Amino acid sequence: MERRDFFKLVTSSAAVVAISPSLITTRLQAHDGRLYESYEKVQLLDKDGNPLKASNIVNEENYIFNYPFVGTPAMLLNLPETCKEPVTLKSSEGEEYVWNEGTGSKKTIVAYAAICTHSLTHPNKSESFLSYMKKGGKTMACQQDGVIVCSSHLSAFEPKCGAKNIAGPADQPLAAIVLEHDTANDTLHAVGVLGPDKYHDYFKAFRTEMKKEWGGKRKAKKKVTDSAKVVKLSEYTKEIIQY
Ligand code: FES
Repeated sequence: MERRDFFKLVTSSAAVVAISPSLITTRLQAHDGRLYESYEKVQLLDKDGNPLKASNIVNEENYIFNYPFVGTPAMLLNLPETCKEPVTLKSSEGEEYVWNEGTGSKKTIVAYAAICTHSLTHPNKSESFLSYMKKGGKTMACQQDGVIVCSSHLSAFEPKCGAKNIAGPADQPLAAIVLEHDTANDTLHAVGVLGPDKYHDYFKAFRTEMKKEWGGKRKAKKKVTDSAKVVKLSEYTKEIIQY
């Protein structure tokens, strides 16, 4: 999804607000901060530290980068297909928002917070129970392929449609990382988070892990600035577990 597309934020009282991305300001966040929050504009880099080219993102490969905080993993995917039309998504509290599309020349590049909205399963350096399962793959979570699977309790999310929760105990989508694609040089920037995120609960729940992986909660909670390195999930974690 690109910021230049209009976001439609739909409240539970059915009032519809169509928001031009240029109007996504601090003032606006005060009203709708739980649905869209802008963070530092961060350039995505490849594993060698060069600007990541959107056209070099391998189809259906699982990639990870840390955004918007040093200790929060996000997944990046180049999907084989897109959602046919905008989809209305709903948080567990009933707030609705609209997912429009991915980014890149074919609108197939998407990014999501890699923190399961059920019980916060996420990739760390030892293992990952959360990952994308390719087209043609099989999962115990659902009959569908091309989905993000959380193998902790078998939730599935549909990445081409805003990571909508489609199976298992997760009761809301994964939060989307909003990307901007610079068509002039084919580079990508992360600029914000759309949808209900679980960052607060995550930082509260994993104090020991924060210390082990990031040197403490305070360091893990630092906002990522300037750039974020994107690596394959298989290089980020020792073991990928998928049922
Ligand atoms: S933590 Fe992901 S399904 Fe339970």
